[in-house]
Amino acid sequence: MRAGERPALRFTELTKSFGHSEVLRGVSFDVEQGEIHALLGVNGAGKSTLIKILAGVHRLDSGVIEVRGRRLPPGHDPEAARTAGIAFVHQDLGLVEDLSVADNVALHLGFEQRFGLVRRRATAERVARVLGAVGADFSPERLVGSLSKDEQVLCAVARALALEPGIVVLDEVSASLPKPDVERLATSLRGMRRSGVAFIYVTHRLDELTGLVDRVTVLRNGKKVLTAPMAELSHEALVKNIVGAETMATGQRPGAEDRFRRGGGDPHLVVRDLITHELTTPISFDVRAGEVLGICRLVGSGTRELAQVRR
Ligand SMILES: Nc1ncnc2c1ncn2[C@@H]1O[C@H](COP(=O)(O)OP(=O)(O)OP(=O)(O)O)[C@@H](O)[C@H]1O
Ligand SMILES: [Mg+2]
Repeated sequence: MRAGERPALRFTELTKSFGHSEVLRGVSFDVEQGEIHALLGVNGAGKSTLIKILAGVHRLDSGVIEVRGRRLPPGHDPEAARTAGIAFVHQDLGLVEDLSVADNVALHLGFEQRFGLVRRRATAERVARVLGAVGADFSPERLVGSLSKDEQVLCAVARALALEPGIVVLDEVSASLPKPDVERLATSLRGMRRSGVAFIYVTHRLDELTGLVDRVTVLRNGKKVLTAPMAELSHEALVKNIVGAETMATGQRPGAEDRFRRGGGDPHLVVRDLITHELTTPISFDVRAGEVLGICRLVGSGTRELAQVRR
């Protein structure tokens, strides 16, 4: 951030509980103008709650949110978030597949009108501008249903940008994208960053962060455990912050092995202290007759590599 420039967003000591469950516990961090800022954490860490609070869907219990130095009023609603220049792209994208790209963007924008008549040309020009801004190389006349998944994401981002926001929140938009498509999306987002728009990028995929995001914030159990430049973080440090050093050390909760074991007899598969390119912490497990072993880790943490490993 340049000296004297206000952060695009500042969260200060946000707290939120649902009943007796404390979901956000004193979360503070800044998102700078023109940066792509990843928001990371395991399921239930509090990411969506924070995003929904920003969107004006949930109300904060305490804390302050500032947009370019201006405080959002306590209990702000979705309209106030929009007026403050915050746009959201959710995982389901919310596009109308039977309409063209141009019409999807224009619908969001409200068609340009003059004397009550829709000005198709003015609308088309505006649509072309935002599609250009996201680096989309497909025709605005294409039906959204005929676009590839990453093109649809770009269309949804273009639709958000049409409102000329200062901040765009992308909530797990890459969850169903194959890797090459994520790379195309990353190229577009990096291009848009130059316009000064700040992006909050919520994801579970660690493999896409390098080269895409500038900084990351990690939430764990409703607390912020890390905000740091991506370039300074190793994969292992990132995973450690996301899952916690305790989980890293044991790999499971106490008693979990007995509770979930259904098979018996000698193990059919024994793995001891396995280390691979991505799995930098040694892992060990047995699989016995009659057992179904589930392996769950964050995307990009080495689960696929584990399944493919050869002696
Ligand atoms: N409306 C709600 N009422 C009650 N509890 C809720 C509500 N929304 C979320 N929670 C709880 O708050 C905690 C944080 O949920 P949240 O959806 O913010 O997590 P998340 O980090 O987005 O997880 P995921 O990666 O699975 O999307 C969870 O324990 C969840 O069950
Ligand atoms: Mg969520």
